[in-house]
Amino acid sequence: VPSLDDLADCFSGRLLTAAEDMAPFLTDWRDLWRGSALAVVQPDSADDVASVVRWCAARGIAIVPQGGNTGMSGGATPEPGANAIILSLARMNRIRTIDGIDNVIVVDAGCILHTVQQAAEDAGRFFPLSLGAEGSCTIGGNLATNAGGTGVLRYGSARDLCLGMEVVTAQGLLWDGLRRLRKDSSGYDLRDLFIGSEGTLGIITGAVMRLYPSPAARATALVAVPSIEAALELFDAVRNRLDTALTAFEFLSENCLSLVLDHRPDLRRPIQQPSPWYLLVELSDLQTADGIRDVLESLLATAFEQDLIVDAAIAETVAQARDFWAIREGIAEAQGRVGKTIKHDIAVPVSRVPAFLSEADAAIGARWPDVRFVTFGHLGDGNIHYNFSPPDGGDQQAFLAQQQPINQVVHDIVVRHGGTISAEHGLGQLRNREIARYKSPIEIELMRQVKQALDPQGLMNPGKLLP
Ligand code: FAD
Ligand code: MLT
Ligand code: ZN
Repeated sequence: VPSLDDLADCFSGRLLTAAEDMAPFLTDWRDLWRGSALAVVQPDSADDVASVVRWCAARGIAIVPQGGNTGMSGGATPEPGANAIILSLARMNRIRTIDGIDNVIVVDAGCILHTVQQAAEDAGRFFPLSLGAEGSCTIGGNLATNAGGTGVLRYGSARDLCLGMEVVTAQGLLWDGLRRLRKDSSGYDLRDLFIGSEGTLGIITGAVMRLYPSPAARATALVAVPSIEAALELFDAVRNRLDTALTAFEFLSENCLSLVLDHRPDLRRPIQQPSPWYLLVELSDLQTADGIRDVLESLLATAFEQDLIVDAAIAETVAQARDFWAIREGIAEAQGRVGKTIKHDIAVPVSRVPAFLSEADAAIGARWPDVRFVTFGHLGDGNIHYNFSPPDGGDQQAFLAQQQPINQVVHDIVVRHGGTISAEHGLGQLRNREIARYKSPIEIELMRQVKQALDPQGLMNPGKLLP
């Protein structure tokens, strides 16, 4: 065991080694993975990060970067028995600058997503990345997982929002790639390599993110639809007419709605008659505060006449819109409360969603008739959280033991439809072995060569992402 004394001297008060101090960093929020580490170090600056990485590289100690620890794939949890330190970015939480003409915000990687949204708003702009964990997740974690969320349909995922990046390499060198360019064809895009690399290539310490104008108004509706086919017909019609004014098209099943309502007595059912599926549709208007609600109402009236929808509740107030969103964004937490969860984060081409769902529902229902389906997600992106909970009162461990065969049934269908086994959560240690089944040997080999080139010692977040 290497001595941590010299590190402790430099990081006095910012190096945790006591078991009780380290405990929250050694497991994920779902308590699915547990690992061990020599210490947790909490740098204040990119230079601090570089010195920690050099210290580790010289001693062959692995590094697990951790942001808000809200990840879904176990990427931020070290392996059991690891000779590793956890590098927490939590103290690196400065907004560095906001520039109106360049329309960017430059932030430390440890900034909480909500803080970035707030800073943009205070400057009269809009930072559109949005997800249920935004009060705790960090920009560094968002970039490292190429996070998506509910604004992707209009604004893209973390990758699309990032213009530049500052990274500490696996050798402990600081690369200043904080560019603000809309155009750059000067060679390999290293920024794009680090996005979605889940801490396996280097440590993101800062980023330049794009800003957008704040919408003057939003109109939000919870819509009951008879089928996914009808939902997609509505999606096609609305997008074709409104294009970028359509800013969200999410879906959830009746199971999801009742799950959230059971756990959130403060929320009420927006549509009384239960329906198999609901949509959360949001329109935004950049120019004027009026009008957008009328547009939504008339679209929904037409859809009703065409039997595409059976009922709809349009939010009358900002608070009501917030409640609709709370239902959608409360699913992950509500599901966590009824037991362990088997999650999927799949995406297929939007047109294939109905076929995927009917095939997967039939295949799972036939082999595991008792599991509870918790199906929801970002329908406009073709990204479905095809999740399962144990049967009421069912044995948690017996349920979790089915995870691998269930994953395989689902993912085989996904890939047959031209999809991916992770749209926005990353592979981490949840899907890193499985990915070998679904990517070609050439693609896996190219990924390995990238890893070998950037992290030849294999010290950056070992056991994650790659098979
Ligand atoms: P962590 O969990 O700390 O880390 C995630 C991965 O990134 C790990 O591999 C870690 O090693 C690496 N990492 C972290 N910081 C850095 C860094 N600075 N440099 C290099 N590597 C780093 N995700 C979505 O995409 N869409 C959603 O809609 C969504 N909804 C969610 C809802 C809830 C209620 C919760 C709890 C989570 C949700 N997530 C969602 C998952 C999660 O919030 C995202 O994956 C988020 O981007 C992770 O950020 P984090 O800071 O918590 O990262
Ligand atoms: C969400 O979109 O709410 C999360 O990404 C999903 C999940 O809990 O699987
Ligand atoms: Zn999601």
